[in-house]
Amino acid sequence: MKALVLAGGTGSRLRPITHTAAKQLVPVANKPVLFYGIEAIVAAGISEIGVVVGETAEEIKAALGDGARFGARITYLPQERPLGLAHAVFIARDWLGDEDFVMYLGDNFIVGGITALVEEFRAERPDARIMLTRVKEPSLFGVAELGPDGQVIALEEKPRHPRSDLALVGIYLFSAAIHDVVATLEPSARGEWEITDAIQKLVDSDRTVRSTVITGYWKDTGNVADMLEVNRSVLEGIESCVEGSVDETSELIGRVRIAPGARVERSRIVGPAVIGENCLILDSYIGPSTSVADDCVIGGSAVEYSVILQDSRIENAGRVEGSLIGRSVQVKGAERRAHAHRLVLGDHSQVRIDK
Ligand code: G1P
Repeated sequence: MKALVLAGGTGSRLRPITHTAAKQLVPVANKPVLFYGIEAIVAAGISEIGVVVGETAEEIKAALGDGARFGARITYLPQERPLGLAHAVFIARDWLGDEDFVMYLGDNFIVGGITALVEEFRAERPDARIMLTRVKEPSLFGVAELGPDGQVIALEEKPRHPRSDLALVGIYLFSAAIHDVVATLEPSARGEWEITDAIQKLVDSDRTVRSTVITGYWKDTGNVADMLEVNRSVLEGIESCVEGSVDETSELIGRVRIAPGARVERSRIVGPAVIGENCLILDSYIGPSTSVADDCVIGGSAVEYSVILQDSRIENAGRVEGSLIGRSVQVKGAERRAHAHRLVLGDHSQVRIDK
């Protein structure tokens, strides 16, 4: 069995975070969401991984390399234009050969990995097995309609009037039968070759399509609240590990990870929390469910239930809560009470000012 990982696309949903970076590299507990997918694939016993890349190919290649660090062998499959998920299967046809494969969308995250699903597929060998999950806004996803016995009746991509709240999770298992239907697809209304349509064609031609309803699912729907929540749930599972330095006036409570080169001085950190490499935490409080990525400085501030990306500085900012802060951002408290806010914000930034 092989794995086809999709890491193309532009990622307009998590703006402004994905203005400058691939959406698959958005960090969850200081690790790119894509790494969790690759690790789950390897844990399921699959080591031949094809990664479909587009505009952000260089960034993805720099992050994954040849796959050796994951115990995998990665082959990059360039997709010249983002023409859809089924198009990605089409361009990967030769590399996949006639093997069964798992297709994994690199911006999807599922708790608990895919080992059980892969084992079930190997044992039953249907033509497709899809994963479904209940979501609040089904019209942002592919949506499935199930019959009384749980059989897949119909699938629709981003329906305006969804027939259920069961969204297609971006992890699919296929036999080589998928290639026959992909070859007959027409582009959808949004100009893409939809994998949803391909699976519908399998259903229509009486191929076996099974489904599993799962919980513990997240994707970058642009919803900051969801991103903070997935970060929180992953942090729940971390172990303490202090590789950086913590001075004796500082206090670590609960499970806290301090990466090499990070310094914590005159501060208090209450876990679960992760502090990235070469960070400086000074005269501050870091509260539960917080991830601070590499090279950040937090001074004279309190930060809780937040995600801070690389190379940002938060200084004398008072209390920061429920926040998602991008790369190389500076948040600074004014020296004296100002009569006006001074802001330099990128496109699509969102700021809430408490008066
Ligand atoms: C794609 C699929 C959709 C699925 C979703 C899951 O949507 O087309 O059916 O529900 O992935 O991540 P896209 O990410 O292209 O909007």
